[in-house]
Amino acid sequence: MSLLIRRDIWVLKPAFEIGQPLAGYGVGVVLRSDNSDVVVGQHLHGRGFIFEQYFVLLSLPLGMYFIDKHGHPGLPLTTYLGALGVPGKTAWAGWKDFASSKKGETVFVSSGASAVGTMVIQLAKLDGLKIIASAGSEEKVEFLRKLGVDVAFNYKTVDTRGVLEREGPIDIYWDSVAGETFNAAIDNAAAGARFLECGQMTTLNSVGSHALTINNPMPIFGKSVSIHFISSFVIIPKHVEEFYRVVPAALSAGTLLRSPEDVRHGLECVGEMIRAVQSGETKGKAMVVVGEEAQD
Ligand SMILES: NC(=O)c1ccc[n+]([C@@H]2O[C@H](COP(=O)([O-])OP(=O)(O)OC[C@H]3O[C@@H](n4cnc5c(N)ncnc54)[C@H](OP(=O)(O)O)[C@@H]3O)[C@@H](O)[C@H]2O)c1
Repeated sequence: MSLLIRRDIWVLKPAFEIGQPLAGYGVGVVLRSDNSDVVVGQHLHGRGFIFEQYFVLLSLPLGMYFIDKHGHPGLPLTTYLGALGVPGKTAWAGWKDFASSKKGETVFVSSGASAVGTMVIQLAKLDGLKIIASAGSEEKVEFLRKLGVDVAFNYKTVDTRGVLEREGPIDIYWDSVAGETFNAAIDNAAAGARFLECGQMTTLNSVGSHALTINNPMPIFGKSVSIHFISSFVIIPKHVEEFYRVVPAALSAGTLLRSPEDVRHGLECVGEMIRAVQSGETKGKAMVVVGEEAQD
């Protein structure tokens, strides 16, 4: 018996349209303003940025925020796409809502060196958990060790199932990849385990994308595993105030670390960057600088 959970009926993001500019999460600076509440030089971050050197906004779109209200002076602007952006907030809110962690438990984090994974690992560390985490290069595995991960491994050269059989059972699984990794985690879940389904990197480009295939559902019943599907839109608002109170200062003080970044320059490399993200070739959070801020 196998179970297939499909999410492509409800589309999170529509497909790109030929001839239309791409939009995504970004950081920008106000160059001109006809609105007395918005001052030239203010920085914005969030959703709704178009991959153009500049664009005109008639009003502030939902999900776009002023950095001077929520940020911390001195942090690089790239922080607002990772630890202080949706990835960091999703990790924070998802962990608070669904992990129910207890000291001494074991957590497995896939995509451990991603922006989301980096935050999850540090929250798990603060809660006193044993942490198993995977990433796709030796460089990233080294970073995981720096974060304090107990069992860090490269899933491209080491068998995930074997690691979980040796180091599990796991009480919490933070899933950013779905696919076979999810099934290996289910087979090595402890009784009462919590699965936090955040992303599906392995299935993004497959037919029927956003599907979670469960090869063997029996352990889910047998071990009473609870599976929580995470939507940043739903979970962030409840936690955002606490997040901004704690996280920017901690990042600035270095008590929380940011994930590695892969920053490239020029509008012309956007397409290549999207391809690289979807094939797992990036060295960190993927960002493209499409325009430089003029310095006085
Ligand atoms: N549910 C939500 O509301 C929500 C919100 C934000 C993010 N997310 C999800 O959280 C996850 C992490 O997001 P992020 O922004 O932190 O990502 P990120 O920093 O851009 O990192 C993504 C990582 O995924 C891994 N990857 C890429 N292609 C892969 C493949 N085919 N198989 C396995 N791994 C692959 C790569 O790491 P390796 O080199 O280690 O493989 C890549 O660096 C993503 O799945 C994203 O969709 C969900």
